[in-house]
Amino acid sequence: MCGIIGYAGRREALPILLDGLKRLEYRGYDSAGVAIVGSALQVAKDKGFIADLEAHLPAMHGTTGLAHTRWATHGAPSKVNAHPHTDCTGKIALAHNGIIENYSGLRERLEEQGHVFRTETDTESLVHLIEAHYRGDLEAAVREALQEVRGSYAIAVVHADEPGRVIGARNESPLVVGLAPDETFLASDVPALLKHTDKVVYVMDKEMVVLTPEGAALRDLQGKTVQREPQRITWNLEDAEKGGFEHFMLKEIHETPKAIQETLLGRLANLEVDGFRAEDFGSVKLVACGTSYHAALVGKYIIEEIAKVPASAELASEYRYTQGAADRPLVILLSQSGETADTLGAAREARRRGCKTLAITNVTGSSLARETDKTIYTRAGLEIGVAATKTFVAQLIVLYLIALRMGLDRGTLGYEEAERLKDELRSLPRAALAVLDEEDAIRDLAASYGKEARDAYYLGRHVNYPVAMEGALKLKEISYVHAEAYAAGELKHGPLALITKDTPIIAIAVDDPTYEKMRSNLGEVAARGARILAVGTEGDRELPKYVDDVIPVPRLPWVFSPVPVSVALMLFAYHAARLRGCPIDKPRNLAKSVTVE
Ligand code: M6R
Repeated sequence: MCGIIGYAGRREALPILLDGLKRLEYRGYDSAGVAIVGSALQVAKDKGFIADLEAHLPAMHGTTGLAHTRWATHGAPSKVNAHPHTDCTGKIALAHNGIIENYSGLRERLEEQGHVFRTETDTESLVHLIEAHYRGDLEAAVREALQEVRGSYAIAVVHADEPGRVIGARNESPLVVGLAPDETFLASDVPALLKHTDKVVYVMDKEMVVLTPEGAALRDLQGKTVQREPQRITWNLEDAEKGGFEHFMLKEIHETPKAIQETLLGRLANLEVDGFRAEDFGSVKLVACGTSYHAALVGKYIIEEIAKVPASAELASEYRYTQGAADRPLVILLSQSGETADTLGAAREARRRGCKTLAITNVTGSSLARETDKTIYTRAGLEIGVAATKTFVAQLIVLYLIALRMGLDRGTLGYEEAERLKDELRSLPRAALAVLDEEDAIRDLAASYGKEARDAYYLGRHVNYPVAMEGALKLKEISYVHAEAYAAGELKHGPLALITKDTPIIAIAVDDPTYEKMRSNLGEVAARGARILAVGTEGDRELPKYVDDVIPVPRLPWVFSPVPVSVALMLFAYHAARLRGCPIDKPRNLAKSVTVE
């Protein structure tokens, strides 16, 4: 969590740092700060968004600096706890993303030695530790300090007496270096760099980097030089802009057809999915968090239906604390960012248990891609809105491809059936587009069902139960409406007690194996006076008899229905949140990528 950026060059650092920092704001936005090395070290920080900081900034001149946008872990969001943190001399400034786990022991020791702490953060202990080791060489001091630190970090450090140098280091939190003529950058993520360069080097765990205007030197924590070739980034600046949409989330929902197309590109003809082959495993375990976990739950149905391989899904944060199955399943880890700490922890645990691991991620070179045996990339493009949208659908697409490949490899799926399913996959961008064409009607329904609601209940069954869970998550995270999803068959076992005429119901009632049962469940709900908005199959003339309103989605074989249904639910949540005046791309208390456990 948190975003950091550093700059060493020949231009004024402040505008470069602020612009880059804004492109990292999706990582956290409860406070922000900047440090510039000019004739002295200048530091400014504030509570709130980067725009709040910018509005009150003094003139700060210098060509070296760093900046930070925070998602609080230790210490409340406040001006004093905002980064950068400084040492007792006021000459060293540090921005940090991660958690220093042994901070309290370090703090106790440093306080005994006379260091004066001003914040409640774990990070402050590191800046004083660097101060304790400083003997005229910042790089050496950082290296020595890091030997004593336990935990996760991506850091940027500057010293007033060493203008033109930024020291970075990484362990379990992302850090990427940008290279351009006469200037170098470091940042938590690529969007911060796109305006200046497409040439990057990823810093790996337990590595340090020294930025100067002339270049970036990578070394390990023992000071040994590390050689790594720079890579070219394919995302461009336009991907990081709103492109005329009011919010990134809406832009990204509208990019769903493209995300599907790109994710399928070149993979369908021969089912060549980044070299994936179904190896010798008896079952599949899908592991992830949040929206990616919902994709994992859908994946269970996809894999069992298409490949006939037993599959189960588990939350990454729970997986590590359960007993491994004796049969060593293939463990598939899903993560948009590839940086989610819980999912990375699960990947390590799966390997420890002797399982083969496969990552599905949207970010090239992410930690998850490095920590698993094999990676298949979704090609959804950059996603900036905190709410995951197009990347969820792209994850489903990869799961369909994997299931097809598995079915063919194991002989559980015939050639002709595979060809038929491939044709259906090819039609999915069109199906998503058809739902986007319904946006005006969905906006009106969001006004009617979502604008004033205090609670909302999402109902689904079978493959669309996790899709209902995802719909409810979207609504709660961006509109702050209390939303719950239930498997409709479970309603009568308790949740029905919650249903009144004031609780809108959003039901998924498409043509799937539970459609008729679903209709009966809707009858039970209607009998309690609730208004029901259903996502149903276009042309279904029966459904309107059971519900108040219908969002129609194209008719597809049930296993593919989660794709158009998800698009409808994303649009519904977006418009409900917009009508309620919520900060859609930056919901309170959240951040896009959760790099702490
Ligand atoms: O990057 P990941 O897919 O690993 O992220 C997992 C969750 O943190 C993420 O899906 C989160 O739930 C989203 N904000 C949901 O919209």
